[in-house]
Amino acid sequence: MSSRYYEVYEAWRRDPEGFWAEAARDLVWTKPWDRAFDPDLGVYGRWFVGAECNTAYNCLDRHVAEGRGSQTALIYDSPVTGQTARFSYEELTAEVATLAAVLLKHGVGKGDRVIVYMPMVPEAAVAMLACARIGAIHSVVFGGFAARELATRIDDAKPKMILTASCGIEPGRIVRYKPLLDEAIALSASKPDACLILQRPMEAAPLIEGRDFDWAASVAAAKATGERAECVPVAATDPLYVLYTSGTTGQPKGVVRDNGGHMVALKWSMHALYGIRPGEVFWAASDVGWVVGHSYIVYGPLLHGCTTILFEGKPVGTPDAGTFWRVIAEHGVAALFTAPTAFRAIKKEDPQGKLIGKYDLSGFRTLFLAGERADPDTVQWAERMLNVPVIDHWWQTETGWAIAGNPVGLGTLPVKYGSPTVPMPGYEIHVLDEAHNEVAPGRMGAICVKLPLPPGCLPTLWGNDQRFRDSYLKEFPGYYATADAGYRDEDGYLYIMARTDDIINVAGHRLSTGAMEEVLASHPDVAECAVIGISDAMKGQVPAGFIVLKAGVNRDVAEIEKEVVQLVRDKIGPVAAFKIVITVGRLPKTRSGKILRGTMRSIADGEDYRLPATIDDPAILDEIGAALKARGIARAV
Ligand code: COA
Ligand code: AMP
Repeated sequence: MSSRYYEVYEAWRRDPEGFWAEAARDLVWTKPWDRAFDPDLGVYGRWFVGAECNTAYNCLDRHVAEGRGSQTALIYDSPVTGQTARFSYEELTAEVATLAAVLLKHGVGKGDRVIVYMPMVPEAAVAMLACARIGAIHSVVFGGFAARELATRIDDAKPKMILTASCGIEPGRIVRYKPLLDEAIALSASKPDACLILQRPMEAAPLIEGRDFDWAASVAAAKATGERAECVPVAATDPLYVLYTSGTTGQPKGVVRDNGGHMVALKWSMHALYGIRPGEVFWAASDVGWVVGHSYIVYGPLLHGCTTILFEGKPVGTPDAGTFWRVIAEHGVAALFTAPTAFRAIKKEDPQGKLIGKYDLSGFRTLFLAGERADPDTVQWAERMLNVPVIDHWWQTETGWAIAGNPVGLGTLPVKYGSPTVPMPGYEIHVLDEAHNEVAPGRMGAICVKLPLPPGCLPTLWGNDQRFRDSYLKEFPGYYATADAGYRDEDGYLYIMARTDDIINVAGHRLSTGAMEEVLASHPDVAECAVIGISDAMKGQVPAGFIVLKAGVNRDVAEIEKEVVQLVRDKIGPVAAFKIVITVGRLPKTRSGKILRGTMRSIADGEDYRLPATIDDPAILDEIGAALKARGIARAV
C-alpha cells in the first residue's frame, strides 16, 4: 500500500489551522473555539482559543456515553507483585470521579497543582485523571528521583496536595516513598495542605496526623456517601499538567501541557502514527513519571477508546526476558511502545529469542521505539525476532508527541535504519548551521522546528515565559530549538545524532550532567569536576564523573569516590545510574578555562577526535585516557 503521508503532510502545510480544526472534530468540546490558532496569544501563539473542554471527560465519560462502558480501559499487570487487575471504562470513570471528589474535599480546585509521586499502580493514572476532571494541574514526579529533586518540584509547582504511595517495588528491594516525601516537604519552602497516601501491603507508612490521609479510607468514605465529582469545563488553553524535565542546570524545567491542543494531537497520533483503532490494546512500557507514560499510557489510548496497559515490572528479571511477550499474548496487545534500551536488555538475556516462541504473538502488529536513538542492531534484531515492523520515532517531553515518525496509520514508509523517518504534520523541520542557514542534505546541524509549534507542544514553562524564550526560542529566532543535532538525507528522512546541550540519555531517561556536576562539586573534598555521558551497550549512555581533589586532601581516594556516588544517589536519585567516578590530577581545558567535555567523551568512547586548537595542555588528554583505561573502560585509547 502506498503511504498517504506526503498528501496529508501537504494538506497540513496548505492549511495548518484547518488541518487541526478537522482533527479536533474527533473530540467533545463544551464550547467551540473562536480561532483554531491565535498567533497573538502566549509566547508564540495558542491553539483552540476560546474553546472549553475537559480532558478526563474525553478519556472516560465520553466513551461510557458512547457505549464503551463495559470495555476494559486499563489493565494493571504487575509481575513484581504477582497482581493483575482490569478496569472497565465505567469502573475507571467511577474511580476517577470518586478520587476527584476526595480532592475537592481537600480544597483542590481548578488551577491548583497536585503532585503525584507514585509507583506504577493504577491509582497513579486515576490520580492524573481525577486532577484533569476538576481542572487541577497534576505534576507527576518519577519515583526514582530523590527527595531533593521532589523538593525542587514542590517549590516550583507549589502543590496544594501531594498524592503518593507508601512504597514502590524495584526488583530485589522495596523503595520507601514516605521518608522521601517527608524529607522533600521538610526541604521545600512551599508546604502542601495535605498528602494522600496509598498504603501498599508490602510496606505501610506511618502517617502524620493532620497532614497525611489514608487513600483507601478516603476513597471508601466518598464511595459510601456516593460522592462523585463531575467534569469541570476548562479553557482549551488551561494547563492540564506540568511535567518537569532535565534542563542544563539543577533546576528542572516545568513543561506545561494544555488541555485542548494536547487532546487533538494525541488523538490524531493514535490512528495516523500508531495505526491503532478504538477498542484495541495499546501498551506503552514506560513509567507514568515520564512523558511517554503521560501521553501513551494514560491520555492517548484513553482518548482513543483503547485498552491501555500499566505495567509494573522490567523487561528483564521480572521474572525473565519473556515478560514482554507474556503481556502481549495475555492481553492481546496490538502495539507496544518502549525505549530501545528495553530491547537491548532483552537481547542480552535471550539473544536467540527463545522465550518468544513460548507465546502467541499473532495479534501483535507493530513495535514503536523512542526515548533515545534506536541503534540499527537493536531494530534489526527486534524485526527478526518479532517479525513485525519496528518503528523508531523521535520526540521530547516538550513536544508531548512525535516530531518525526513513520506514520503506520497513513501507510508505512520504507524504513531506513538509524532514522526516525519524516516530520509529522505540524512540524516544519529545518536543520540549521550556526549562522542560522539551512544546511545541505547529509550535513549535520541543529534541528529546529519553525514556529508555531503544533497542538500538544508546550506553550511555555511553568511560571516562566522568559526561561522558555531563553532556552528554546532565542538561539534561532523564529524557530524552536530542539537541542538535538542531526541531519536530513536526500529523501527528507531525519537522523537524530546527538544533543547540543549537556543532556544525556541513560536507559531512555533524560538526565542533566550539569545537575550531576553541581552535586559532585558540593562534596567537601572536590575542587573541580566534570560529568560526561559515555557509551554503554545496554543503557545507551551512562554518566561518568571526573573529580579533582582539593589540595591537601589526603583521605582514601576510593572512599571519597564512594561518597560521591552515594551523594548523587541521595541528591538526584538512583535513576541517575551514577556509578563511575574517576579521580584525576587535572581536567583538560581550553586556554579560557572551559572543560573539554566533548573531547573527554570521545576518548572514553574510543572515537577519533581533533585536538582542540585552544587546548591548554594536550598532555592532560593522555592522563584522562590512562585513567579511563585503568578503570577498565575498555574503549579508552
Ligand atoms: N523508583 C525507584 N528506583 C527506581 C525506579 C523507580 N521508579 N526506576 C528505576 N529505579 C532505580 C533502579 O532500581 C536502579 O537502581 P540500582 O542502581 O539500585 O540498580 C536505578 O534506578 C537505575 O534504573 P534503570 O536505569 O532503569 O536501570 P535498571 O538496571 O533498573 O533497568 C532497564 C534497566 C533497561 C531494564 C530499564 O531502564 C528499562 O526498562 N528501560 C526501558 C523503559 C523505560 O523506562 N523507558 C523510559 C522512557 S520511554
Ligand atoms: P525526553 O524529553 O526524556 O523524552 O528526551 C528527549 C530526548 O531524547 C530528545 O531530545 C533526544 O535527544 C532523545 N530522543 C528521543 N527519541 C529519540 C529517537 N527516536 N532518536 C534519537 N533520539 C531520541
